Amino acid sequence: MVYFDVRFAAKFMGVSSATIRNWIKTGVLGAHPHNSGKIPILEIYALQSKIKSGEIDRLNQRANKSASKKTITPNEYIPKELVGLVQQIIDICDDAELPVSGAMFITAIAYLIYSNEIALSDNDAKNQIRMSFRRSGIKKLILKWEDACQSEKQYATIAAISQAFAGQSVPKEQDFLGAIYQAMLQEGNKSQKGSYFTPINVVQTMISSQYQPGMRFLDPCCGTGQFLVCCARQKGCNYNDLYGIDIDQISAYIASINLLLAFPDADFEPNIYHCNTLTDIDLDSFLDEYIWMKNAFDLIATNPPWGAALNRQELSKLYPEVQSGESFSYFVVKCRDFLKEGGRLSLVLPESIINIKVHKDIRKYILGNYQIASINELGAIFTDVFTNVYRMDLTRTATGKDTENASYAKLNKIFELTNYSFMSICNNEANELIDKFFAQEYITLKDNADWALGIVTGNNQKYLSNTMKAGFEPIYRGKDIMPMRLGGAAQYIEFKPLSFQQVAPEWKYRAKEKLIYRFISDKLVFAYDNQGVLTLNSANICIPNIAGMDMCTISSIFNSKTYNHLFRALFNTHKVLKSNLEVLPIPIDFLGSETKIKEIIKAVLKGDEDTDAIDEYLMDYFKLSPKEKEMIWDMRI
Ligand SMILES: C[S@@+](CC[C@H](N)C(=O)[O-])C[C@H]1O[C@@H](n2cnc3c(N)ncnc32)[C@H](O)[C@@H]1O
Repeated sequence: MVYFDVRFAAKFMGVSSATIRNWIKTGVLGAHPHNSGKIPILEIYALQSKIKSGEIDRLNQRANKSASKKTITPNEYIPKELVGLVQQIIDICDDAELPVSGAMFITAIAYLIYSNEIALSDNDAKNQIRMSFRRSGIKKLILKWEDACQSEKQYATIAAISQAFAGQSVPKEQDFLGAIYQAMLQEGNKSQKGSYFTPINVVQTMISSQYQPGMRFLDPCCGTGQFLVCCARQKGCNYNDLYGIDIDQISAYIASINLLLAFPDADFEPNIYHCNTLTDIDLDSFLDEYIWMKNAFDLIATNPPWGAALNRQELSKLYPEVQSGESFSYFVVKCRDFLKEGGRLSLVLPESIINIKVHKDIRKYILGNYQIASINELGAIFTDVFTNVYRMDLTRTATGKDTENASYAKLNKIFELTNYSFMSICNNEANELIDKFFAQEYITLKDNADWALGIVTGNNQKYLSNTMKAGFEPIYRGKDIMPMRLGGAAQYIEFKPLSFQQVAPEWKYRAKEKLIYRFISDKLVFAYDNQGVLTLNSANICIPNIAGMDMCTISSIFNSKTYNHLFRALFNTHKVLKSNLEVLPIPIDFLGSETKIKEIIKAVLKGDEDTDAIDEYLMDYFKLSPKEKEMIWDMRI
């Protein structure tokens, strides 16, 4: 028999302790004959159903209280039908005032009772409750975890949670404990550890496409073990081949439980380790207890933490290759040493890995140390995380052989030019298209232009005016920049360079001819200016200096749909950076005064042709296929 104490019974029923005592006194609630402070749980439930049926007029308080609470339940992680149960269990733990560790321990026991792994029995002689275990693997685990919670009150909570499970059907393959744990973690805490667990369908495709029986598998930051459990469900998998590590003790316990539940007919101790994979495992030291993990795994699949708060100082010494301080990058480096040569690393990563400059360190590392098998966009798969997510499959190359990634060798030049951007690898079509742009002999704006940022006044209210005043002149913002021309300026300024926070040398603004381009933009918008106008910092300046190339030609081709398509394929950015513009190829065929492109541009500027004529010419020039042309015509810029 399981008992509630008075305080907990009061919380559970949504009444005061005095009311409970009164109910015991008046016989509404039957208490333990020798101890009126203990109430059999069955009595509580009996009373509850009397209240529900209207026999006794109480309880709604508690129901209302539950309804008013809001827990963040990971929708992508658990079916809708179970969200209510998750919420109910969290409410019970809240009412019992359990810390997350205690609440998870209690919930795990209730879940194991529900899964027929643990049975509770009453030891009447000692007036105690005993747990008996079906498997010693579970027993060892639970005893190890038990320290946190041992009071009667917690057994009452187990009973309350067990009651919540009654009549529910939680699918066996569901990481129910993981879902509860995630919901219990506060958002802040979660992002600090980077603990968004991966939706099961993503895990399934990653594992089923790569796992073979007999492979030794590792998830080096396994969370509650979904990648491991997914392997466990593959035909022929042996639990001895599955290994997981996590820095979070509760996650590691849940992963062990999940693995044991995935092999219901075996009794074993799962290979789940609780430690910091990045700092506690030294694969270069023969004295390290984990040294056997060096080059030991055929497959690693995981969703490593992103942007987790880490000790950068310590890590920079251990992982000099990683300059960004990004947590997933350390894992990419560490995993190489866990893998056998030819072993596979499969990762869920944020979109920023593809082309954001700060991650060029890890892209370069990947190109030198792994073969890229594939990169695929998965979309925004995490609730409340707006980032697009990519799956990246990498094969470990030979030790010490600083390989240039063979299959992408032809793109080496572009990698160097683009901060090792992976945009071109992400899809083969883009890859082929990019190749065509770089197939002709070309020059770029790198070392062939002067550049300037627009003015940062430091106090726009003070320095800018909406009307023209004496001594003032127009100043242009990004949104005033139109393809080929300046729109109307909406603001004016008195040019007092010494007063401004950031200002380029005046000659750059006053140049006889210059190009002005929008800085915050996902497309290229270039205007030609020969009036020496000023710009604010949302509009930057480029003064090309390429013999035989006039500025109108450069701005016309950069404004074209064709170049915008290339720009997106290479960078996919919302900021037009000088370093990106310096990559764009300007074919040397376009140099000189008598070229076809210039003839077309002249006609467009005169109004005899529209800008489509420029795109038609460019697409033919770069030998784009009908499909590529169609894509470009269809793009919205
Ligand atoms: C994004 S979660 C992914 C969990 C699991 N791999 C999955 O995909 O569902 C990241 C996990 O990494 C763990 N973690 C973070 N830093 C770690 C470290 N230095 N060593 C081991 N685990 C770490 C967190 O505790 C968390 O469980």
